[in-house]
Amino acid sequence: MSNDLQEEMNSPTNRRKTFTIPQLLIRKRTSVKIVMVTAYDYSSALLAERAEIDIVLVGDSLGMMAAGHKDVLPVTMDEMVYHVRMVRRGLKRSLLLADMPFGSYQISEELGLANAVRLLKEGGASAVKLEGDAETAPLIKKMVHAGIPAVAHIGVTPQSVNLQGGYPVQGRDEESRQRLIASAENMVNAGACALLLEKIDPAVASHITQSVEVPTIGIGSGSGCDGQVLVWHDLLGLPPGKTYPHVKEYASIGQQIVDALSHYKNDVISGIFPPQEQHTK
Ligand code: KIV
Repeated sequence: MSNDLQEEMNSPTNRRKTFTIPQLLIRKRTSVKIVMVTAYDYSSALLAERAEIDIVLVGDSLGMMAAGHKDVLPVTMDEMVYHVRMVRRGLKRSLLLADMPFGSYQISEELGLANAVRLLKEGGASAVKLEGDAETAPLIKKMVHAGIPAVAHIGVTPQSVNLQGGYPVQGRDEESRQRLIASAENMVNAGACALLLEKIDPAVASHITQSVEVPTIGIGSGSGCDGQVLVWHDLLGLPPGKTYPHVKEYASIGQQIVDALSHYKNDVISGIFPPQEQHTK
């Protein structure tokens, strides 16, 4: 499979344009929605590339989805670099966005900048994403100055799960609404190339979208955003039976895998696989 996909990606007849940072503003101006999905490894990246997804995010959600942690806090820089490199090898024209994990930028701006450089230099990312508030603005400025495009993530910010007391929708009261609007303005003034709005009241997300010049990419924030992002496992039904209100499950791959594995197991136990006449070459 991977060889075919790789050949197709490299084929001269594949005319899809590479999605670059300047495209973000073009999409905003032309009202063409931006589509983003997470991916954590090479084969997922190949599939996202084949589906012509605009932006592939190596999110720190990999700590929960791929590593089985209860939240994103344990994810390290080395783990991020490792996954970003895998995804890099599967992408050609989709833009590769990499998350700054918890602890990689909160301690000092110098450390934040050095870690962002690692994601581009060692991982091959084209841009980084970090959770933002007024405190993050000076770091975003420094990143942009260093040539590193930065996406600011506001609303539910999973790295602040302890402060936010879980993942409750943000922007439902006036104080929270004003705080989000101010954060969005701060991030854009600092030079953020896009805003990721996670679980923000849809009316507030629409208001922010209409008032900033960079695109907003929403998750659980309604249809008024300039684009949408979903987590790979949620979109594909991996593992089976786990859904969230803001997610649309486009396939039940998890159940298909369980069925295939059970089929294989039964075939081995009953002697159907491998067939008697099968010879190794
Ligand atoms: O880490 C992640 O997957 C995210 C989601 C909000 C898309 O940031």
